[in-house]
Amino acid sequence: MEIIIKTDYEAACEEAARIILRAWKKRKSLVLGLATGRTPLGLYEKLISLHKKGEMDFSNVIAFSLDEYFGLDETHPQSFARYMDDHLYRHINIRPENIHRLSGRPAEIEEHCRAYERKIRSVGGIDIQVLGIGKNGHIGFNEPGSSLTSRTRLKSLTRETVEANAPLFKEEGEVPRFSLTMGIGTILESRMILLLASGEDKADAVARAAEGPLTAFVPASVLQLHPQAKCILDEEAASRLALKDYYRWTYENKEKFLARLT
Ligand code: GLP
Repeated sequence: MEIIIKTDYEAACEEAARIILRAWKKRKSLVLGLATGRTPLGLYEKLISLHKKGEMDFSNVIAFSLDEYFGLDETHPQSFARYMDDHLYRHINIRPENIHRLSGRPAEIEEHCRAYERKIRSVGGIDIQVLGIGKNGHIGFNEPGSSLTSRTRLKSLTRETVEANAPLFKEEGEVPRFSLTMGIGTILESRMILLLASGEDKADAVARAAEGPLTAFVPASVLQLHPQAKCILDEEAASRLALKDYYRWTYENKEKFLARLT
């Protein structure tokens, strides 16, 4: 895992956007896997601004949602479909046929999940998967205990996650207990992974994911197995990393070294 520590959230989002822009520039196309939550909001703002400035064209970009609440319609204000439309898709020129989502109300759950995996494969796989991290170390909705080789499937949410989401819903009975999520095995097949984390409340999960043992108990720790996983953090999210000075030194010197080559 490459750990990139930025001074603040804004700079972390800037860095993630820069990596995505650089990858897009190589082929003028890209397959993205996209997460929801508060964390990637700043990144999506940066991507919108790149588009508005004419620096990034999304007409050949294909996007896959990472997960969705089970039981919610696409039009529900808290659905991840609505989130992606509101915070990214309707501000850029992505083609509707290039937007892929997991349905919160699939006619047949297992077939829907298998079809999603087939769709990802049919476009050649995901180039960059954007991830946030739950306080319990989850990625997507792969909660602690998820199989490290899991595929897209129905997943029950932990009490902690349900409680974290509850304030967003009007009534308690409305809060989803289940989700559809790309599996950990699905996520690991992406060519690059960008995990973003911000704030002190994520510091413990980040430290366990990056420096703790590889365990299904901390699903994000599986990123230790990925050859191109970048963890982009602000100072608060990085605060409990034992080797943070080393990560900082490595990153700064890599930048200097690469700058000399270009
Ligand atoms: C949810 C999402 C995850 C997200 C996590 C953290 O559980 N399924 O994809 O990473 O929340 O959310 P936030 O960025 O709001 O802290």
